[in-house]
Amino acid sequence: MEFCSSFLLGFVVVALINWNGSNALSSNYYEQTCPMVESMVTNAVKKAMLNDRTVPAALLRMHFHDCFIRGCDGSVLLNSTATNQAEKDGPANISLHAFYVIDNAKKVLEAMCPGTVSCADIVALAARDAVHLSGGPSWVVPKGRKDGRFSIASETRQLPAPTFNISQLQQSFSQRGLSMDDLVALSGGHTLGFAHCSSFQNRIHNFATTQDVDPSMHQSFAASLRRVCPMHNKVNNAGANLDSTPTTFDNRYYKLLLEGKSIFSSDQALVTNPTTKTLVAKFADSRQEFEKAFVESMIKMSSISGGGQEVRLNCRVAN
Ligand code: HEM
Ligand SMILES: *[C@@H]1O[C@H](CO)[C@@H](O)[C@H](O)[C@H]1NC(C)=O
Ligand SMILES: *[C@@H]1O[C@H](CO)[C@@H](O)[C@H](O)[C@H]1NC(C)=O
Ligand SMILES: *[C@@H]1O[C@H](CO)[C@@H](O)[C@H](O)[C@H]1NC(C)=O
Repeated sequence: MEFCSSFLLGFVVVALINWNGSNALSSNYYEQTCPMVESMVTNAVKKAMLNDRTVPAALLRMHFHDCFIRGCDGSVLLNSTATNQAEKDGPANISLHAFYVIDNAKKVLEAMCPGTVSCADIVALAARDAVHLSGGPSWVVPKGRKDGRFSIASETRQLPAPTFNISQLQQSFSQRGLSMDDLVALSGGHTLGFAHCSSFQNRIHNFATTQDVDPSMHQSFAASLRRVCPMHNKVNNAGANLDSTPTTFDNRYYKLLLEGKSIFSSDQALVTNPTTKTLVAKFADSRQEFEKAFVESMIKMSSISGGGQEVRLNCRVAN
């Protein structure tokens, strides 16, 4: 009887492992096949940061876009072709840049361990490094993603928009297995980077028929945004930083959010619901609590599975 039940238990455990085996990620995935993978990606990110302080924000947003469209399968990296317009040329591509950092890491990795490390894994590692090298937490990234062969511009319409309210955000996240807690923690990614005027124009011009400016926005903050982004803005790259310390990964974003000094309606939406507002206050209060939650939610987001089947040789082209 004893023997029988432990035998059965063993069988169930093995079956579960096999069932997961096809697409489960693991932290030691490249231990035998490419042990230097993490340090090579870190080097590429560090090197790029020396010349351009906007690189970390770009890499973090790149991973978010990758995971929200077709799962984390490197689809955000594919170039358009003669017959197909890719995600990077689709709507909402406005802030995507620094693809060259992924290319540089990939080139080194192809020389060291050809055909082994997926582009999707490089993006996940680069996003982690971007956070850590900006003064944020570090964590162990589960690896083993496969690259997809498709990238379709129109699918980027499925990304959450900066004009979204709390229920639209909740729906967008829950469709991908992410909770309201994940929404609040991951929105903290807006501690890094910049937004173009077009992304928050809805809040500072013609907000509603009776109010030109979103009344939930701090008055003088709104006025300063209106000066940088007039109604008919002609300056190409005009915009605003997402928080007052845009190259430091800290909890400033949440503090400003409580003061009505967030940039997007989707940020402000987090304080329109009692549950999410409580979390915002907690993260504004404690950088440690924020970092802990952010790491947990990043690992969840970066595990959204895609339909990838290959390890691309060039991150911009399907094999
Ligand atoms: C909750 C839904 C989200 C919405 C609606 C949203 C929307 C946006 C928009 C509109 C921009 C600015 C684009 C531009 O004008 O250049 C932006 C920038 C950014 N987002 Fe989000 N985002 C969301 C979630 C996230 C998540 C989950 C992350 C990562 C964890 C993230 C990281 C970033 C970063 C780092 C930037 C700055 C990019 C740069 O400066 O290059 N966002 N986001
Ligand atoms: C991908 O597109 C970029 C930008 O248009 C171009 O510079 C690059 O050469 C392309 N790469 C490949 C492999 O097609
Ligand atoms: C965004 O898409 C437009 C239109 O296809 C394209 O001209 C532009 O280069 C793209 N931006 C990036 C960063 O790829
Ligand atoms: C959010 O916007 C949608 C679509 O406009 C609307 O149906 C919904 O009632 C709004 N929810 C909240 C909480 O405002």
